[in-house]
Amino acid sequence: MVLRFAVLSFSLLLLFACKPPAGDCEECEAEANISGKSLFMDQCLSCHGADGKLGNSGAKDLSISKLTPEEIKEVLSEGKGAMPPALELLADPNHMDSVVQFVQSLRK
Ligand code: HEC
Repeated sequence: MVLRFAVLSFSLLLLFACKPPAGDCEECEAEANISGKSLFMDQCLSCHGADGKLGNSGAKDLSISKLTPEEIKEVLSEGKGAMPPALELLADPNHMDSVVQFVQSLRK
């Protein structure tokens, strides 16, 4: 009996662990934001810092940046001054969008 309960709860766990396809529910959007943050921490932290204000290598303070999402995408696609293009983001439009969202979330 105990074993059966354990098996049942385990399969329930598996059921909930399965993720629906990205981009068509609120949970997935929340997830996109999280990955935007982790992508940023991975690729942008060294120059911009976790809050966007670090300013390493002359990086712009992202918390006071006024660029539109399109302009942010352009900077990320082509690079600007000392900032190299974000090639990994170019390869994946979902990643690009979540990082753009995260960059905007750094504004106060
Ligand atoms: C090698 C250091 C470096 C890395 C890594 C880097 N940046 Fe930058 N970033 C810069 C510099 C320098 C500028 C200023 C460019 C200029 O205006 O000449 C800049 C500017 C920007 C701007 C424009 C801000 C404005 O208002 O003009 C955005 C947006 C931005 N970076 C986002 C990012 C994101 C997102 C990442 C990660 C994918 C990233 N950067 C990675 C150095 C870097």
